[in-house]
Amino acid sequence: MRDRSHGEIAEGVATRGTVAVVGLGQIGLPLAVQYAQHDWQVIGCDINPRVVEMLQAGRSPNEQEPGIQDEVARLVREGRLRATSSTPEGVSQASVVVVIVPVIVDAQKQVDLGTITKAARAVGQGLRPGTLVMFETTLPVGTTSGQLRRALEETSGLTAGVDFHLAYSPERVSAGRISRDLTTYPKVVGGMNPASHEAAVAFYSSVLDAPILSMKSTEDAEFVKLIETTYRDVNIALANQYARFADAHGLDVLDAIHAANTQPYSHIHEPGVGVGGHCIPVYPYFLIRGDTGDVSGAPALSIPPLARQVNDGMAEYAVQRIEAEIGPVAGKVVLILGVAYRGDVHEIAFSSARLLQAALQAHGAIVYVDDPLYSREELTALGYTPMPLETVEGAAAVQAIIAQAAHSAYRSFDLSPFTACRVVLDGRRVLAQEEVESRGIRYLRIGDGQASVAPASTPALAN
Ligand SMILES: NC(=O)c1ccc[n+]([C@@H]2O[C@H](COP(=O)([O-])OP(=O)(O)OC[C@H]3O[C@@H](n4cnc5c(N)ncnc54)[C@H](O)[C@@H]3O)[C@@H](O)[C@H]2O)c1
Repeated sequence: MRDRSHGEIAEGVATRGTVAVVGLGQIGLPLAVQYAQHDWQVIGCDINPRVVEMLQAGRSPNEQEPGIQDEVARLVREGRLRATSSTPEGVSQASVVVVIVPVIVDAQKQVDLGTITKAARAVGQGLRPGTLVMFETTLPVGTTSGQLRRALEETSGLTAGVDFHLAYSPERVSAGRISRDLTTYPKVVGGMNPASHEAAVAFYSSVLDAPILSMKSTEDAEFVKLIETTYRDVNIALANQYARFADAHGLDVLDAIHAANTQPYSHIHEPGVGVGGHCIPVYPYFLIRGDTGDVSGAPALSIPPLARQVNDGMAEYAVQRIEAEIGPVAGKVVLILGVAYRGDVHEIAFSSARLLQAALQAHGAIVYVDDPLYSREELTALGYTPMPLETVEGAAAVQAIIAQAAHSAYRSFDLSPFTACRVVLDGRRVLAQEEVESRGIRYLRIGDGQASVAPASTPALAN
């Protein structure tokens, strides 16, 4: 007889009760709120004592998600949401466990499963028979049923699929609009056996209004997130190569893409000065390094690595476009607008600003940055040089500008102090072209067909 004290279990499926969310970060905390709003008791587990203390005090460590501060305060006050720094303790009281801690790539682009394996071992220490364990972190194919299952089984002494349910569901939401995405994106779910799958579907049906998309296995579900993000990286790489082709042939790539996309089978993305963020430039490596999970001997993928190379190569291309206008940048001051990986977020994960700074410095430029979402101290701590406040050394010394992040504030960016600036490369189409040109500054976009960069410098196609 199954222990019903930790949740209402109908035919092996938990539909209400207590859920433990392991990892209360950008994604985990909004998920915890979502579950608590749907009548689950939620225990958030996090190794960061500050996060736990804040949540226990009814305050949200996440300020980005709309409305989350008020909801955390209300749910904690009503006793529906609480936090602990002991994952085994939280898990031991739950009928469902959702794990959403990061998996990253290291400097050599090797996938690092250390954090999630530690989290899985802690879950195993508190795991009780009948519990559903869900992983939502993006994972290499085979990780849930391989390394993570073993970590759970070794520490709990229980067997997945027999004593507890094990399933995988990739989290496909974007930070900053999680609550909206949760209502619209179908929830992709794969279980390690039919009972696990059924339990996962029952749980998600109780907390989400979005449709549920059942996959045949945890591996199939893991594969989905990897191919959707890699698709975007490859698509952007193609757009970037089209842009370089357009530049070399006096064509406007945006006009062409817009026209091409009026055909229903064409979905070409936009070119730019690089691809940043937690997902798109990272998850292709989960596929490329397929042997990190338990699917070894998988055939090598040739397109995703090339796409990574093309997209990372856009920083060097940006410098070439600037140099084609003003000559070598060595000794010249270049300003990067925006260090965040995308517009209006205070996030720098794998930002193209890093590659732009490195490329400019490799050419001998003096590089300043500006970002209205970061303090000068933050920019310095991140290894950037904020633009000097003194106009003579700062704005008036800048000879070229590259717009890297499409912050709303840049739509009305004041160029009046940039008296020596000769060229602006608008890498995200965020600046007002007319305003730039009205100051006698050359306005460039990636793929505007205005390049004097020789076609020979476009990237070689893969052999
Ligand atoms: N951030 C995004 O935009 C996004 C979007 C979709 C999916 N995801 C997925 O979510 C995962 C997590 O991303 P995030 O942005 O929420 O990360 P985050 O860095 O904001 O938060 C991770 C949290 O996990 C905690 N943590 C780390 N190790 C732990 C452990 N062993 N036990 C308990 N807590 C632990 C950290 O203290 C932190 O609070 C990503 O790896 C990705 O797979 C992220």
